[in-house]
Amino acid sequence: MRVTKLASSVSYISLLALYFSFYTITTISSTSLPDDNFIKCLNKNTYVDFPLEKTFFTPEKNASTFIKVLKSTAHNYRYLTNSTPKPSFIFTPVHESHVQASIICSKKLGIHLRVRSGGHDFEAVSYVSQIETPFLLLDLSKLRQINVDIEDNSAWVQAGATLGEVYYRIAEKSKIHGFPAGLCSTVGVGGYITGGGYGALMRKYGLGADNVLDAKIVDANGKLLDRSSMGEDMFWAIRGGGGGSFGIILAWKLRLVPVPETLTIFSVTKTLEQDPHFKTLSKWQRVADKLVEELFIRVVIRASGNNTVAASYRGQFLGGKGTLIKIMKKDFPELGLTEKDCTEMRWIETVIFNGEFPKGTPIEDLIQVKSPLVNPSFKSKGDIVKKPIPASVLKGIFKRLIQKGPGTFLAFAPYGGMMAKISESEIPFPHRSGTIFKILYNADTGKSPGTEINWIRELYSFMTPYVSSNPRLSYVNYRDLDLGQNTRNTTSNFNNAQIWGAKYFKGNFERLVRIKSKVDPHNIFRHEQSIPTTM
Ligand SMILES: Cc1cc2nc3c(=O)[nH]c(=O)nc-3n(C[C@H](O)[C@H](O)[C@H](O)COP(=O)(O)OP(=O)(O)OC[C@H]3O[C@@H](n4cnc5c(N)ncnc54)[C@H](O)[C@@H]3O)c2cc1C
Ligand SMILES: *[C@@H]1O[C@H](CO)[C@@H](O)[C@H](O)[C@H]1NC(C)=O
Ligand SMILES: *[C@@H]1O[C@H](CO)[C@@H](O)[C@H](O)[C@H]1NC(C)=O
Ligand SMILES: *[C@@H]1O[C@H](CO)[C@@H](O)[C@H](O)[C@H]1NC(C)=O
Repeated sequence: MRVTKLASSVSYISLLALYFSFYTITTISSTSLPDDNFIKCLNKNTYVDFPLEKTFFTPEKNASTFIKVLKSTAHNYRYLTNSTPKPSFIFTPVHESHVQASIICSKKLGIHLRVRSGGHDFEAVSYVSQIETPFLLLDLSKLRQINVDIEDNSAWVQAGATLGEVYYRIAEKSKIHGFPAGLCSTVGVGGYITGGGYGALMRKYGLGADNVLDAKIVDANGKLLDRSSMGEDMFWAIRGGGGGSFGIILAWKLRLVPVPETLTIFSVTKTLEQDPHFKTLSKWQRVADKLVEELFIRVVIRASGNNTVAASYRGQFLGGKGTLIKIMKKDFPELGLTEKDCTEMRWIETVIFNGEFPKGTPIEDLIQVKSPLVNPSFKSKGDIVKKPIPASVLKGIFKRLIQKGPGTFLAFAPYGGMMAKISESEIPFPHRSGTIFKILYNADTGKSPGTEINWIRELYSFMTPYVSSNPRLSYVNYRDLDLGQNTRNTTSNFNNAQIWGAKYFKGNFERLVRIKSKVDPHNIFRHEQSIPTTM
């Protein structure tokens, strides 16, 4: 990558940064639009010759194009209603130095900045600010280069690339290399790794963030840093401490992992009628985290609309079906898996399966094609489970799903294996040994958001006694503003943050606050749930 080449411009930019401290806010002149001032400032602060007007989008210049760009990767339409705040303008940098200059200019002009990579944030904090206006959206979708180095078992990936693109580019070069990342192909690499990042290979290799070797980040002074220049504290914080708090990730260097040439996948569905006493689901809870690390079986529980609920056991095994059947007969015979249920395939094809694309979808669809996992408008919540949920409680969940009907679902993802071998403080993501599985609750808020949000909150409250407690834990990439949010009041922010901070990060929260206070003392990188500075 071009770390050395950029070094000369970095010192130039950081010199400029000294002149424009956070508090020297220039008044925006009433005759020109905020983006004009921003463009002028960028032109002064970048050395790349590029017509910046082409990468600026404002409602004043062309409302339909503006909305199109805003929507392009906005994955939760619940935050795209007429009444949700919109950015004053969108800037899509085409060069890394544009990102550096954006930070300098956002400080100079006193306009708050939000950063978006893949736009999958559950609460849309990457493209909607509910706590301050005006704000600008820095959209990294044009910074999406991927350089796979098979000899080195690594890849440099720019933040705007999607997981599907990363998988595709790896598979283009090798059948026996992979990367342990998420199920949904359109999730952005930029945001995904900042929160940890789980997926179908996590029982074998851990999280995406457990497999990061280096990073390039622009800090609060507009300086470009890599692992050695940012230091181990900041490098620790950015791998799981949540997006939008420490700086803007430009690229990650990922460690590729070995995968066999043949993997096996299966999907076996049991409706409530087929598993009336929850024998299968109860057994799954007892074995899912203890099975061999090569085997990952998640359960997706959906209201199917016929007054019933269907639980789909979706499995991936790093090996052939013969071995898989033997393991299942011994450890999980209740599922009744047969050879007929199993399909052998290459790793890249399992990505299509895990992404729930229709059977036969070409792997090319991993590149910039809409993922079937995306629900246009939703409210989600998460839980961490440490002891099996009793059958009577599962019955309560199924009853609620039947009442709600199609569109809503729960997904249980098993931990154990490598996840349990990594210490809680290795990176900020703390949900390791002792976790059986994670729950994702999802409500479809497309029609009547109020009713649906009440429904999911009631279910969450019903689950309180049966999930982790003191604190009730959650996954930061399943961002949930019900857990508390920042306001304009820094005192109450800190108190709120201690509550959600302990849920997402346990004891790692204090270290995140210390690092935040050091690397971003003026809180340039802030949003509804960003890490606060010490008071
Ligand atoms: C349909 C769907 C499926 C999902 N599947 C999975 C899954 O299988 N596994 C899993 O672990 N998670 C999954 N997630 C959650 C996902 O990992 C998080 O929402 C993640 O933060 C998304 O990253 P993004 O770049 O797409 O999002 P964005 O909305 O762009 O960003 C998310 C957060 O990171 C910040 N951020 C974005 N880019 C940068 C950057 N370059 N530098 C610093 N901060 C940045 C944003 O400001 C925001 O706070 C899924 C989400 C959805 C909606
Ligand atoms: C806005 O941009 C679109 C293309 O994205 C174009 O078709 C349309 O004519 C433009 N409208 C105006 C008023 O310039
Ligand atoms: C629901 O019932 C309809 C009509 O009987 C049927 O076509 C459909 O396949 C059923 N759906 C499920 C998920 O069982
Ligand atoms: C900020 O919050 C604190 C604690 O909640 C409260 O005591 C204080 O009055 C608030 N300040 C303002 C200006 O609202």
